[in-house]
Amino acid sequence: MAGATGYSGAAERLAHEYEAVSFEQVHGAVVAWLPGTPSRVIDIGAGTGRDAAALAARGHTVTAVEPTAEFRVIGRALHGGAVHWLDDSLPELRLVRGVFDLVLLSAVWMHLDDVERRTAMTRIAGLLAPGGRLVLTLRHGPVPAGRRMFDVSVVETVDLAGALGLKAVHHSETADVLGRPDVRWSSLVLVGAAE
Ligand SMILES: C[S@@+](CC[C@H](N)C(=O)[O-])C[C@H]1O[C@@H](n2cnc3c(N)ncnc32)[C@H](O)[C@@H]1O
Repeated sequence: MAGATGYSGAAERLAHEYEAVSFEQVHGAVVAWLPGTPSRVIDIGAGTGRDAAALAARGHTVTAVEPTAEFRVIGRALHGGAVHWLDDSLPELRLVRGVFDLVLLSAVWMHLDDVERRTAMTRIAGLLAPGGRLVLTLRHGPVPAGRRMFDVSVVETVDLAGALGLKAVHHSETADVLGRPDVRWSSLVLVGAAE
């Protein structure tokens, strides 16, 4: 999967970075938008499962989709059976079935090119249960050596989702929680139609 280029060989080092911060530290801006009752959640591009496990601990039933085998192994070791792991990838998500009340895409969207983002957003919109929420974080900053990343923008993402009936209800900008001065993040919450 092209988007995951560069992760496999660096998985152990990156796992330390991902797990050095908590779900609440990374996603504090959108915590108020999480479902308040036990819900169906899918974390796409879940990495080591930090967020998936935190959401499971909040009472949700969580599927973690992750194409990098090394992350799935580390995730299972760190977070046990709290999460259902799938080896799958955007834009098609060939193995994912059913619908979800919350779809999380944390630091993943920049790995897809323009054409893949269009296909992926259509697939994701189809995964949302009525009134379901899509939470995305968009990374802005230089591309680390050996990775495949593209520029992503809030306007383009909101427009793409809007054309599929999703409405933006939250947008915030934050500094990088790992302290990288040249990296910043946009958080977005989009809501699907109620019926
Ligand atoms: C920067 S990491 C973020 C991991 C995790 N979501 C987090 O916030 O810590 C990006 C993740 O996206 C995954 N990824 C890359 N391309 C993908 C694709 N096309 N579909 C799904 N996941 C992808 C990578 O394997 C990697 O685990």
